[in-house]
Amino acid sequence: MTDQHTVLDRGYANVPIPFGWFAVAMSGDIAPGEIKTLQYFATELVIWRGENGQVNAVDPFCPHLGAHLGVNSDVVGNDLRCPFHHWSFNGEGGVTDIPYTKLIPPKLKRSCLPTWPVEEKDGVIFVWYHPNKAAPKWEVARLPNCPDGEWVLAETHEWIINIHCQEITENGQDYAHFGAVHGVPYAPSTQFMNEGWVRRNTVVAEMKTPKGLMTGKIDVTATGPGQSMVEYTDVTHVVQSQQVTPINSQTTHVRWQMYHIPGLSEGRMRVTQARMRDLVKQINQDIPIWNRKRFNEHPLLVKGDGPMLAYREQYARYYQFDEENKTGSVAAGN
Ligand code: FES
Ligand SMILES: [Fe+2]
Repeated sequence: MTDQHTVLDRGYANVPIPFGWFAVAMSGDIAPGEIKTLQYFATELVIWRGENGQVNAVDPFCPHLGAHLGVNSDVVGNDLRCPFHHWSFNGEGGVTDIPYTKLIPPKLKRSCLPTWPVEEKDGVIFVWYHPNKAAPKWEVARLPNCPDGEWVLAETHEWIINIHCQEITENGQDYAHFGAVHGVPYAPSTQFMNEGWVRRNTVVAEMKTPKGLMTGKIDVTATGPGQSMVEYTDVTHVVQSQQVTPINSQTTHVRWQMYHIPGLSEGRMRVTQARMRDLVKQINQDIPIWNRKRFNEHPLLVKGDGPMLAYREQYARYYQFDEENKTGSVAAGN
């Protein structure tokens, strides 16, 4: 029997894939000498790690006669060697070797294979996606400063979710769902700020603890469409580093790395672990709704709904693909 749900129009067909830095792998996913074909951004890219440790990313098809560079290819030194006629390419997409000719045209030596900008930061491999291959407009965001030494990576999680990536980060602005879906009260004090390519939310809430009321703070810093750092400061001190990566307009890969401060007592460790469990529980409450919801371009909003339209207005800049159209470049350079 056909799944009749698959014929529902969920409104994503006309929502493009935003440009930005996106996580495509964890550092540990690819060792020196390894090659991987990744499916993101409604296309494929081939990444490899050279002997020097550097990760490179290129388009999948060899410019010579079109072999797929992720199939039966090899890493030779720092370069990727095509399986079909053994041309080798460096990370700039330039030909470094053709075994049957000494005469490599200078143009091919410079670059003939389209590449993707790559950054490897805090254990995550990012590529810069732009449909017109425009250069990166901001830098990959790093973990916030840890007040007491180095953050301790406690847990990693990942999910593939059937929804456009814009809707996943919109969830934090959707205040009315906090009670309905997560059973937590409305955020009593919330600031929502756009600063160039960065969006910040700060939520301050009175929390009941065994030692009485205390003020808890949640700081969300989203840099571009692909990265959010969420810092919880209360009885625990936890950072949830989130990356969302479009597989296509309707499917998103979500990754989390959860960190806590070092030197926790047994008691604080228990509270910290409970907080992390709770965060995972919360996303698991959102996922069934995300997997089947529609994108409402014109939602029916009422007083009490959060600043989702302000969020969408800011987010729209990630769809300004035309370099001539400067409206997408407001506050560029940060
Ligand atoms: S197709 Fe790649 S070297 Fe010929
Ligand atoms: Fe949620």
